[in-house]
Amino acid sequence: MCPVHRHEPCTLDGTLKKNRIRQHGHTDCSCQLFYGRTAIMPNVVIVGTQWGDEGKGKIVDILTEQADIVVRFQGGPNAGHTVVIGDTKTILHQIPSGILNSGKQCIIGNGVVLDLATLLDEIRQIRQQGYFTDPSALKISENASLIMPWHKKIDIARERKKGKNKIGTTGRGIGPAYEDKVARNAIRFGDIFNDTLLRDKIETTLEEKNFYLTSYLGEEPLNADAVLNALTALRDELRSYPVNASLYLAEAVGQGKNILFEGAQGTMLDVDHGTYPFVTSSNTTAAQAAIGSGVGPRQLHTIVGITKAYTTRVGEGPFPTELTDATGDFMRTQGGEFGSTTGRPRRCGWFDLVVVKHAVRLNSISCIALTKLDVLSGLDSINICTGYRCGETILHEFPNDLSVLEKCVPVYETVPGWKEDLSNVSSYGDLPQAAKSYVARLEALTGVPMCMVSVGVKRSQNIMRSNPFDAC
Ligand code: IMP
Repeated sequence: MCPVHRHEPCTLDGTLKKNRIRQHGHTDCSCQLFYGRTAIMPNVVIVGTQWGDEGKGKIVDILTEQADIVVRFQGGPNAGHTVVIGDTKTILHQIPSGILNSGKQCIIGNGVVLDLATLLDEIRQIRQQGYFTDPSALKISENASLIMPWHKKIDIARERKKGKNKIGTTGRGIGPAYEDKVARNAIRFGDIFNDTLLRDKIETTLEEKNFYLTSYLGEEPLNADAVLNALTALRDELRSYPVNASLYLAEAVGQGKNILFEGAQGTMLDVDHGTYPFVTSSNTTAAQAAIGSGVGPRQLHTIVGITKAYTTRVGEGPFPTELTDATGDFMRTQGGEFGSTTGRPRRCGWFDLVVVKHAVRLNSISCIALTKLDVLSGLDSINICTGYRCGETILHEFPNDLSVLEKCVPVYETVPGWKEDLSNVSSYGDLPQAAKSYVARLEALTGVPMCMVSVGVKRSQNIMRSNPFDAC
């Protein structure tokens, strides 16, 4: 009996057996025979390979069809995952994008920082659009840390105080909430159902936060009763959601169910591996899918990197291939590059291979979903940044010391552009030759196959070259 998938062994040929061992780390299993569409499918992790806004929401929505469970494992309401179904646009901030597919179980993992008031607003909005009719479709880890009113106040006031050195946060309280989690001061989702504990935690925390808010940041203090009452007023609407997510997911995997892990932000915003300090406060890379949901790391099988055909960033911080000219404006207008959470115009620039290779290494990316290729239609030529020239040296790896970047200029390889509109192309073979060559060049340079190519905002505007759920 296979200890993981609970079925009898059967005969294997050598290749399949090798794959099986690589994926699941055990040898006495024959589950690839069930693997295709009938029983066992791999778990797939979706991560951004740039500075976020790569189009993860759309790809998650497409892949959800093949998943039983969709899990958010980091970030919070700073994310804005846009999904367009028919003519309706939905922007999800905290709920996994899988909620737009009925019959799928969505989980908000312990790695997420959760703003309960905005979560309930989000739930109301998607219900108005006809989604999420079954309340059991969403479960929230009891261990998820909450974003409290002081976190938002601190986030905004700190940015103001930093002036020109600000990070350009979304102002949603993300950093201060993660700080409290690591400082072991967080109020967790499960705590809100325990009156005594909740009052005690709010009162104790506010002693310190009010001192910091008033004496250091010059803000008004918060009142413990008001915070408590506002939170407890939300409780009734939240009673069906708490879950021991780690246990739930382990049981689901044991039953042969498969999971799609939905990352937020992007690799260059990872608190350890991104452009620190101009990063978000969570780990945005694939390994966090395990930590932030409570599954073991051997359950992460296929890692799909979501990569925009060019680069964008919101907020402050280094961006080597940024274009502040008409081409940058063209990308912003054609690509609708305005923040889906804050509405801020996104900074735009050429594809940066150094960045994407950094992400390929950090995430052990299996394949890339290339998004927004249609946005580049109309350009005479397209630049790909293959390295950074610093004096006599050309860097091919992203430097940890950001001051080095200030002395560098991008080295570009120029390839032909195309004029044709791609938004109705549904098969790879029908793309203009120059677009195919661009994709092929990116594959060769990154060393990673491009399994999907997205040519518009709609679900249907997607070319599936190979299915990540088949990859192993
Ligand atoms: P925070 O996550 O709100 O603390 O913001 C820190 C940095 O991450 C800022 O530069 C934000 O603009 C950026 N950021 C946070 N979330 C996203 C996202 O979902 N997409 C793109 N950038 C983001």
